[in-house]
Amino acid sequence: MAIRVVRLTSADVERFRQVRVEGLRSDPIGFRYSEAEDAAVGTAVWAARLDLDFVVAALREGSDEILGVGGFSRLAGDKLSHKGLIWGMYVRAASRGTGASDAILEALIAHARLHVRQLQLTVIADNARARMFYERHGFVAYATEPDAVQQGDEYRDELSMWLRLAER
Ligand SMILES: CC(C)(COP(=O)(O)OP(=O)(O)OC[C@H]1O[C@@H](n2cnc3c(N)ncnc32)[C@H](O)[C@@H]1OP(=O)(O)O)[C@@H](O)C(=O)NCCC(=O)NCCS
Repeated sequence: MAIRVVRLTSADVERFRQVRVEGLRSDPIGFRYSEAEDAAVGTAVWAARLDLDFVVAALREGSDEILGVGGFSRLAGDKLSHKGLIWGMYVRAASRGTGASDAILEALIAHARLHVRQLQLTVIADNARARMFYERHGFVAYATEPDAVQQGDEYRDELSMWLRLAER
């Protein structure tokens, strides 16, 4: 499938949130936030975040249909700004395994290379598909936090992963 990756801005806030809410419902394991918590974040806050961070969507070539999304943000502070965070990776079920996720992450990594020395992310330890996906892109797990995320009565371990982009 031919895929195009575009940067989303505040003008895309409604359609971005539609896809994100779908993900929070269908794949809660992929997110650190509950649907209710995410909904409580107002549209204005999300719009500002889209302009501040670097958030991209994979679109089917020739269409505006969003297949998936992912975000990059740079950490703040003199001592931390060499690092960036990959967040909100979500590809709609029908578009998994098509290369849409690769196109999103490659765009985020290419952008990150211009700004930071290394990337970090977290993934629920038993989210095997996501973990393999990140490993394929060079991310390495460096820590496991036991019982990091609570969902109802269940607690799940979370892996911290990182990717070095440059020696500087
Ligand atoms: C995580 C995600 C972005 C990965 O994108 P994707 O298009 O599904 O990725 P791929 O199809 O390339 O699959 C990644 C790997 O998992 C393997 N895989 C496929 N189905 C699998 C399954 N049911 N269980 C375990 N591994 C599976 C693939 O073979 C592939 O292995 P490889 O890297 O050795 O080739 C996507 O699955 C997704 O949006 N999941 C829901 C949200 C989520 O979990 N986000 C991550 C939050 S940290």
